[in-house]
Amino acid sequence: MSRTPLISGNWKMHLNHLEAIQLCQKLSYELARHRYDQVEVSLHPPFVDLRSCQTVIDVDRLEFKLGAQNCHDQNQGAFTGEVSPTMLAKLDVTYVIVGHSERRALFGETDEIVAAKAAAVAKQGMTPIVCVGETLEDREAGRATNVVTTQLRGSLAKLTRAQFETLVVAYEPVWAIGTGRNASPVDAQDMCARARRVIDEIRPGTGSLVRVQYGGSVKPVNAPELLGQTDIDGALVGGASLDATQFARIVNAAR
Ligand code: PGA
Repeated sequence: MSRTPLISGNWKMHLNHLEAIQLCQKLSYELARHRYDQVEVSLHPPFVDLRSCQTVIDVDRLEFKLGAQNCHDQNQGAFTGEVSPTMLAKLDVTYVIVGHSERRALFGETDEIVAAKAAAVAKQGMTPIVCVGETLEDREAGRATNVVTTQLRGSLAKLTRAQFETLVVAYEPVWAIGTGRNASPVDAQDMCARARRVIDEIRPGTGSLVRVQYGGSVKPVNAPELLGQTDIDGALVGGASLDATQFARIVNAAR
C-alpha cells in the first residue's frame, strides 16, 4: 500500500501576513530546486495570514496545500473569536490540524472536543490532521501506549468509515515538541505502527490507508532516518518550518 508522504509546516503564532507571503515565496524558490512530486506539502499559517497565502499559492501556482492550525466545530454562531470549518473551506484550505498538544494543554481541548472538530472539518470536505502524543510523565510511567490509544479512540470517534480513508494522524510526543529532543526513529516507528493498528481496530481495513505523521523536533539532520521508517508517512514540523531552507531539506528527505 503506497501512501504519499505529507510534510506539514505548523507555523504556530508566528509571522504576520506580509512575512507569511515572503515565506511562501522563499519556500517555492527552495523547493523548485528539488523534485518533490512524490511528496505533498501543506503550510499552516495563522488564520489572519490564510487569505494572503491562498492568493500567493493561487496566483503563482505553487504546489503547496493550504492548512489551518485549528477551527471551531460549528459552522456559525455566537462564538466570539472563533473561526468555522466553512470559512476555512471557502479559503481552499485542505488540511486542518486538530488536537495539537498545545491546544490540549493550554486551551483545555479534550478528546471529545477534538472528535467534534475532526468531524466538522471532514464534513466540509477538508482533511483533519488529528494530533496525539504522550507527555514525558506518561512515558516515564510506562503509559505512553495507553495514552495514545485512548486519545485515538476518543478523538476519532465521530468520523465515518469514508472519512477514515483520507485521514491523517500525527503522533507528536509532547516532550519532543520544541525541545530539540526528537523521539528515536525506533520509538517513533513503534508508536506510529501501534497507532495504525488502533486505527484498524476502530475501522477495520483502514489502518493501511491512513497516513501517520511523526512530529516533535523534526530537523534536516534527523528527517531522513525518521521518514525512512515503514509506518511514518511524513512529518508535522514546527520550528524548522519557519526556515525555508531547513523545511525544503525536510521535504527533500521525504522523497
Ligand atoms: P517542533 O513542533 O517541530 O518545533 O518540535 C512540532 C509541532 O508542534 O507540531
